[in-house]
Amino acid sequence: MSPIELENLHKDFGLKVTGIELNDSLSQDKILQIKEWIDDYSLVVFPRQHLNDEAHLEFTRKLGEPEPNHVSLGRDGVVNYFGTIGNVQPDGTVNGNSHKQTRFLTGNNMWHSDSSFRKVPSFVSIMSVYEVPKQGGETEYVSARAAYSRLSDETRKLIEPLEVIHDYVFSRSKVAEVDPAHAASLPPINQKLVRKNPNNNLKNYYVGSHARSIAGWTEKAGRELLDDLLAKATKSEHIYTQNWRSGDLVIWDNRCLLHRGTGYDADKYRRLMRQTRVCGSGPTLAE
Ligand SMILES: [Fe+2]
Repeated sequence: MSPIELENLHKDFGLKVTGIELNDSLSQDKILQIKEWIDDYSLVVFPRQHLNDEAHLEFTRKLGEPEPNHVSLGRDGVVNYFGTIGNVQPDGTVNGNSHKQTRFLTGNNMWHSDSSFRKVPSFVSIMSVYEVPKQGGETEYVSARAAYSRLSDETRKLIEPLEVIHDYVFSRSKVAEVDPAHAASLPPINQKLVRKNPNNNLKNYYVGSHARSIAGWTEKAGRELLDDLLAKATKSEHIYTQNWRSGDLVIWDNRCLLHRGTGYDADKYRRLMRQTRVCGSGPTLAE
């Protein structure tokens, strides 16, 4: 096998790794190494892996407990560990721009952290890429850890004790109607605004589209602070853009990264990616 090669993706975060096959023979040492890269780099890109669902789920389990997809669980009461990103259906047909599901997925085009609206939010998301549009369909990432490091001492002190109310129905209703059973399964919950990685003690702030308000603050004051923190984190120079290729296997740390889709023309192009998530270690309020 070719030697392991590492390449930085952005000055703040991100690592591309070649020379490792993420198959069933992955050693314990390599799994520990991957977990260390997640802690240190937040985004880890493995090109040309071509993992199918079975291998993808097996790899997911090596990083922790798979997180049940909240749509299947909340709406249908079914535990399913995959989400499908894109417009290609299981029978190979395609949903266009006006399809309800395509509109629902445009909620991912707002900056967010996956599952921040769950009491125990995700540790990482893991994407396996099948089909990509010729144009558009990239995903942008920023590091809220790097953003935290750029804050003044005064702002850090202000935000340290705060709790943020994350609310899925608040954010998703901006683009599509949420199924009533799904909505009822995800009541608003409080999250810590400042989080700390337990392995390297680096702090970040935890915001994004699901962050509705600051607990104990007026709606207006909370909105101003949340919008300001998001704007600071997502300036163009802080963004890394992932141009997907079929076969990519990408892991991102939802504890400290924000991401968004850039959109694509679903009438014109096919896009198919499968995603799993790994559960976080507990509620952020207990961190
Ligand atoms: Fe996402």
